[in-house]
Amino acid sequence: MRRPVIAGNWKMNKMSRESVDTATDLLPLVASVQGVDVVVAPVFTALAPVAKALEGSTIQLAAQDCFWEDAGAFTGEVSPAMLADIGCSHVIIGHSERRQYFGETDETVNRKVRAALQSGLIVIVCIGETLDERESGTTFAVLERQATEGLAGLRAGDMNRVIIAYEPVWAIGTGKTASDSQAQEAHAFIRSTVASCIDQTTADAVRILYGGSVKPDNISGLMGQPDIDGALVGGASLDADSFARIVRYAL
Ligand code: PGA
Repeated sequence: MRRPVIAGNWKMNKMSRESVDTATDLLPLVASVQGVDVVVAPVFTALAPVAKALEGSTIQLAAQDCFWEDAGAFTGEVSPAMLADIGCSHVIIGHSERRQYFGETDETVNRKVRAALQSGLIVIVCIGETLDERESGTTFAVLERQATEGLAGLRAGDMNRVIIAYEPVWAIGTGKTASDSQAQEAHAFIRSTVASCIDQTTADAVRILYGGSVKPDNISGLMGQPDIDGALVGGASLDADSFARIVRYAL
């Protein structure tokens, strides 16, 4: 049995105070929920105060990116060790917005993934095809490349701290979710890719989240699919109430 994960990606939203408020509002709403990992990912500047607000709770904290070096002359960057130091357990890597706007490539994703694992973090590695890629029939080739190159060099033993998020770019923030069967098809394909590049046992155990316009009213259909183990939620995670409903409906 793979334990579901519901992660909220707040992207570049909320001032520090608002992030703490949302986290605080979320606490009682998910306190009684068992059997699902709940993760929130505020902006860098809110991580430390949110970590404090979440102390003693089961809600886990993720950063939205990291660099691959531990320390040094890398102006503007934050290392995985620094994230662990302030209480992050997770880090999102390779989100399509980073690939689209900030030049993230499969190679930089891989460097970041390996560095984050070295620092003891759990990584949420995002992959997903654009609308053009889907329409030109290259979805599987893109997913295979992103998964293989993003996870290059990892061994079976590393993979219990790797979560994969399948996020079709055309479904992010558009209100257009992949259908349950489209998502299932992609998830099954990603799982088979993990089996070929690592091994079947690892593939059976790795958690694969769906992301792209997940809402309280579409989560249960998605979670009903055999290869969907949770969700990476953007817009609908900004409100504690709607995020908590997604967490509850995921079970
Ligand atoms: P969305 O974003 O839920 O707002 O579509 C998902 C994501 O980008 O992780």
